[in-house]
Amino acid sequence: MPHTAPPGSVAEQARRLLADNAAMECDEAHARTMLARLATVLPALDAAYHQHDAPLVDDATYDSLRRLNAGLEERFPGLRRDDSPTEKVGAPASGPFHRHRHMVPMLSLDNVFSRDEFEAFISRIARFLGLGEDQARALSFVAEPKIDGLSISLTYEHGRFVRGTTRGDGTEGEDVSANLRTLKDIPDQLPAPFPDVIEIRGEVFLSKQAFLELNAAQERAGEKPFANPRNAAAGSLRQLDPKVTARRPLSLFAYAAGFCDAPLAPTHHGYLEQLAAWGFVVNPLSTRVKDAAEAEAFMERLTLERSALDYDIDGVVYKLDDRALQDRLGFAGRAPRWAVAWKFAAEQAVTRLEKIDIQVGRTGALTPVAFLEAVNVGGVIVTRASLHNEDEITRKDIREGDLVHVQRAGDVIPQVTGVVLPRDHDRPPFHFPHTCPVCGAHAERPEGEVVWRCSGGLTCPAQVVERLIHFVSRDAFDIDGLGDRTIVEFHELGWLRTPADIFRLPEHEAEIASRDGWGKVSARNLVNAIAARRTIELSRLIYALGIRRIGINNARLLARHYGSMANWRQQMEKAAVIGSDERLELGSITGIGSAIADELVSFFAEAHNRATLDDLTSVLAQVTDEEMVAEGALSGKTIVFTGTLTTMTRPEARAVAERLGARVSDSVSRKTDLVVLGEKAGSKARKAAELGVATMDEASWRTLAGMPPVGGQTT
Ligand code: IVH
Repeated sequence: MPHTAPPGSVAEQARRLLADNAAMECDEAHARTMLARLATVLPALDAAYHQHDAPLVDDATYDSLRRLNAGLEERFPGLRRDDSPTEKVGAPASGPFHRHRHMVPMLSLDNVFSRDEFEAFISRIARFLGLGEDQARALSFVAEPKIDGLSISLTYEHGRFVRGTTRGDGTEGEDVSANLRTLKDIPDQLPAPFPDVIEIRGEVFLSKQAFLELNAAQERAGEKPFANPRNAAAGSLRQLDPKVTARRPLSLFAYAAGFCDAPLAPTHHGYLEQLAAWGFVVNPLSTRVKDAAEAEAFMERLTLERSALDYDIDGVVYKLDDRALQDRLGFAGRAPRWAVAWKFAAEQAVTRLEKIDIQVGRTGALTPVAFLEAVNVGGVIVTRASLHNEDEITRKDIREGDLVHVQRAGDVIPQVTGVVLPRDHDRPPFHFPHTCPVCGAHAERPEGEVVWRCSGGLTCPAQVVERLIHFVSRDAFDIDGLGDRTIVEFHELGWLRTPADIFRLPEHEAEIASRDGWGKVSARNLVNAIAARRTIELSRLIYALGIRRIGINNARLLARHYGSMANWRQQMEKAAVIGSDERLELGSITGIGSAIADELVSFFAEAHNRATLDDLTSVLAQVTDEEMVAEGALSGKTIVFTGTLTTMTRPEARAVAERLGARVSDSVSRKTDLVVLGEKAGSKARKAAELGVATMDEASWRTLAGMPPVGGQTT
């Protein structure tokens, strides 16, 4: 796309997004900012295209942004926004369909990309269930082609189809029943026997053949063709007039269960047979594989057969066959522990590396980015790619001017994987700079780390702007009207240098109101939005500080553990002493390991960070204490497991406790509510007795946690 788009325009924002994507060392915080930006840019591009027939960017750029959004959501399912543009492909941003809540949320899947990663997935299951290596390799799965379509949920009451919804944000989708009723693959009435209420999940898609015919018809009618079968299926499903949907030959493969008020078949393959008996189409390639070797052979076979299929697939989904084991494994975040999507290998291309550019992120990380001669990698035009860090460049001996292999894996950031040798030029090896390209301060690379960091801190403009953008992002201070562009603008004017300056912006209200693109009303709104955030929850504040490795989840853990701002600060400063009680306590919070503890301690060791925090607290009205976890039978309780558990593994015990709202800790203190004693419990049992903390044995724990008694847990 042209680089001449006016600064601040949607097209320019789109271009910057792609550049930043290629540059990023994609941690969770960065992904969150990117998704927030995409949630503004994509609807603007859609509106221009669909409502005003005036595209602002070329198709390749648009597709790259869509893929970027989808890829980030796939990689960080927890970051998916309520206003995610994903489900709004090819349609206006606010839909005319009623929203409907799923009885059981629609989750996503974790991805693996290689045999090693697939085997690691099986090992994780084995560790969780306490199985040996041989038993693990003998676990049966059902292998199903991963259809590249749209997932939907179909509700049947007393055997009758009553409602069909899109996935939406996973919790709530859009009611597209009228359109789904036109699909030949969706039975209106199930033959008996059937449960009273059941949600059936599957994938709606358009065959390649139907897609080509539809696009030919679009062109004849002077309409714009769809980019791919998935977009065409999405557009067809969200038609306002079901008669239009009826003319599009959408298909459905059914493959999962949502809510059901009666017991389902004890195996997943049994459930698929049930679906077929009810009249659904189950993918004929779905197969039970009896061990890891068969699972891997299935992947090999499908890789070869993929292009001959009449529908797009992007990998294979493996689901543990035994449902009782599925229940024990449960979910981690938004994906089940018992299933995984093994994606097809990355798509590759060769192109010229024109220049290695060094970009500076919020934490001062100097990230090398390859500027490439544009190349088509599996349908996406790539002009930048990640080079990771200094060591990777040295290891692969990547030099400016080289012909390089570029790869896009299932995730979205293209990577340079290697150099084409012999070289057709005579350039020297690349020397990684030891100064910051933005502010000139010297850069440091701490021992044992791979990343060079600018030492300029908040005097480095690159870091300031990125930090401020993070500071006002959705899970942080979430200030309406203070977007990326505005931050850059106010920073250039000298109004914004530190987070506290945000709360001083109201002093500039009159000047803001008179600026281009602003007015009295929008300036007032901004001032009000800022005022509303003078009272802030502790977890948001902790997250907003942008401390390395402290994403929103860790910030919440800290906030819940320490309760108040004053207590947290005091404890963090004391935790600087290695071996102190405070340091041990910090490290023993579930989810906070020693690497995270180190980051917190070094943040507080810096005088300028303490000053920033002082300055910030001086402009805030109040930092509200954090509430304890609300749901679950063991809400807010701290539990310690000790000794050898004989009926479950530690990870399983921990997962069950956390599901019930408890916090699991490794050490017994006065704050512990319960110690579960396995066999040969030693010093922790004594300590619990000394401190008068409640204890119980493993069998009582199972009862308390609502787990089936031992012996009765397999079916
Ligand atoms: S099972 C908890 N099975 O992939 C299990 N999903 O990356 C959830 N998909 O949202 C899904 N083919 O849209 C499942 N055979 C299959 C699938 C499949 C395609 C899609 C589905 C889901 C996404 C997750």
